[in-house]
Amino acid sequence: MPISFDQENKEFHLYNSSLSYIIKVLCTGSVGQAYCGAPLAPYRFHPFLAAAASGDAFQPDKSTTRFEYPAFGTGDYRTPAFVLQLPDGSTVTEPVYHSHALYAGKPAIPGLPALYAERTGEADTLELTLSDAPSGLRIILYYTIFADLPAIARRSRFANEGNEPLFLRKAMSLSLDLPDSDWRMISVAGAWAREFQIIESPLVFGFHGVKSCKGNSGHQQNPFLLLKRPTAGDCSGEALGFSLLYSGNFTAAVEVDSCSSSRVQLGVNDETFSWKLEKGASFDTPEAVLAYSRNGLNHLSQVFHSLYQSRLVRGMWRDKERPVLLNNWEGTYFNFTERKLLDMAAVAKELGIELFVLDDGWFGRRDSDTSSLGDWFADTRKLPSGIAGLAEKITALGLQFGLWIEPEMISKKSRLFEQHPDWAVGAPGRSRTEQRHQYVLDMSRREIVDYIFTVIAKVIASAPISYIKWDMNRSITEPFSLGLAPDRQGEFFHRYMLGVYNLYERLTKAFPHILFESCASGGGRFDPGMLAFAPQAWLSDNTDAVERLRIQSGASLVYPQSSWGSHVSAVPNHQTGRKIALSFRAMAAFFGALGFELDPTELSPEEKQQIMTYIAFYKAHRKTFQYGRFFRLASPDPAFYTAWQVSSEEESVAGFYKLLAQPNRPPVRLRLAGLDPELLYSVSLWEEGGFEANDKTYNCGLRGGDELMYAGLLLDTTYVTKRGDFFGELFIIKKTGAQ
Ligand code: DGJ
Repeated sequence: MPISFDQENKEFHLYNSSLSYIIKVLCTGSVGQAYCGAPLAPYRFHPFLAAAASGDAFQPDKSTTRFEYPAFGTGDYRTPAFVLQLPDGSTVTEPVYHSHALYAGKPAIPGLPALYAERTGEADTLELTLSDAPSGLRIILYYTIFADLPAIARRSRFANEGNEPLFLRKAMSLSLDLPDSDWRMISVAGAWAREFQIIESPLVFGFHGVKSCKGNSGHQQNPFLLLKRPTAGDCSGEALGFSLLYSGNFTAAVEVDSCSSSRVQLGVNDETFSWKLEKGASFDTPEAVLAYSRNGLNHLSQVFHSLYQSRLVRGMWRDKERPVLLNNWEGTYFNFTERKLLDMAAVAKELGIELFVLDDGWFGRRDSDTSSLGDWFADTRKLPSGIAGLAEKITALGLQFGLWIEPEMISKKSRLFEQHPDWAVGAPGRSRTEQRHQYVLDMSRREIVDYIFTVIAKVIASAPISYIKWDMNRSITEPFSLGLAPDRQGEFFHRYMLGVYNLYERLTKAFPHILFESCASGGGRFDPGMLAFAPQAWLSDNTDAVERLRIQSGASLVYPQSSWGSHVSAVPNHQTGRKIALSFRAMAAFFGALGFELDPTELSPEEKQQIMTYIAFYKAHRKTFQYGRFFRLASPDPAFYTAWQVSSEEESVAGFYKLLAQPNRPPVRLRLAGLDPELLYSVSLWEEGGFEANDKTYNCGLRGGDELMYAGLLLDTTYVTKRGDFFGELFIIKKTGAQ
């Protein structure tokens, strides 16, 4: 079992071959953090590390002690992991070690997304119980270590074992005290259509981090932080990653104190949170995942990828190749008829597309975004035979059929709002703020979740539907629930998320064959919480290929490429007006779950031929593109090109994307990753890329894995200078045998 407990020294050691995490019960009974990093020998205990954690073993200085789950009010002046308000108004607590349990496997969290263990021996759990006698509070800290991955899942449960109600004012999922601050911090930030921009900053004294208070995780930030040593890069160096399995208001922050130690915290954003704990009640925080690498950021990302791909995503779509889809949104927006959709679908079928998705505008009287959310019945002006009729016709063409919904929303102009104006979130005596002409349904109320489940389930059951796109196009304002007492209004945002997760759980259970794709105006709620229910998410409303290089690079820091939809759209691009060659657009979209978002009836015969070839190529390498190990070989900033590689057992595909041509640049040596240096590989170029005769001479044929990784592919000066802007190339690298 990779968790040991040394009774004499009161030391817990969670370990595997690539990570050690050591917790020590201090002489005061408080629980200290001794070590988190590269593996240490499991058969030794580490008193010197514990001493460092506690200042002085005999008289610990709480202001510098490294705590495992720091409390407020007794001398640790850094930010606490939790704040509890007692019936007398005091917020002082000092929980101490009470007991612990060690067991194989990983328990689920009621109502919340969580990683899971599937095979015997793949994960072990430590439950560490702390108690604060004066308040009656018990805190159970859960730690699960995965046997084959340098990753630990953490969360906390608060239980009121006293006689009076208690109020939780803050409850982090993870708090980690690191002994130094010699790190650089990376987070991903952005805006609508500009999500996942990589932001790197030095870790200096003070507070650093990201948070959301919008009700969703947001376009502007993501529940994720990365710390890397200053010299670490994609292929080497030490890094720690932190990711929160949550889709609502969160905080992910680091505090560097005057002793240069760093306290990392992730959890529900306490600025918009409080929770009443009645006698006998308990509260579970969402789960946070900590990953560690000594081998650079690509390795760190791959740890998250494999966990999220295979131990977060659930159901039959987890390991299944995702269909190539056509979504009608950019092709028609709200303006379509059944005839138009069928014409589009017929061409889609010819091209090799497998799934036709009908986006927004099919219900109520929705000719624009000003009405009808909540009225989940087909608009028979546009669809005379309803969803069932359309779906049958589409499936008769040999395509699967998918449908867009936005179940958490209600339009002011809708039948549902006429019947239930009080179902929209709003604060008493104040007008509701409209965003995209819509309000948010109060998903913290069970009767509303039940109603939405019933109507959406009815639509899905009425037709041969195999895919659902679940959108969410606004954030929450005037947070207040008519279903909550005044002293529970601080629970609203979290209860909203519990309601959304409940709806997802019920719909995914009722329709296990359906592939769900989550969306929030693109990447407004692209987080691990959603991935537990929807294996795919629409990464961004920005379909411009150049923009996607940056967005997909940022997302790849933590999310696997199977989790993001990436579509080829028309030119001029609807978001940027840019015109880029079809082959380059396809090459960027291949790295992900490929789709098309255009009107295929408007394609020229040449374009159709090209797309047919592209789709056939994608399908031949789909497993590698969707599930291969993902490497960032070069990132758009600071390089003037981007390069990615995906690798499966049999093959790798590397993509090189030059942005703007610049004269007289030296050639690029594109060093591949993750190959076996002792094997021979055959390298070929994608016939549809922009290669010229010499490129084949330089790069194609049999090459050693050592040569490809240490010397690299040669992209000579003509690649990087003369071939114009937005020029790309794909290399296919197949294993052949020993050198
Ligand atoms: C926002 C999504 O991101 C788009 O793809 C599209 O579904 C629209 N909403 C529809 O309103």
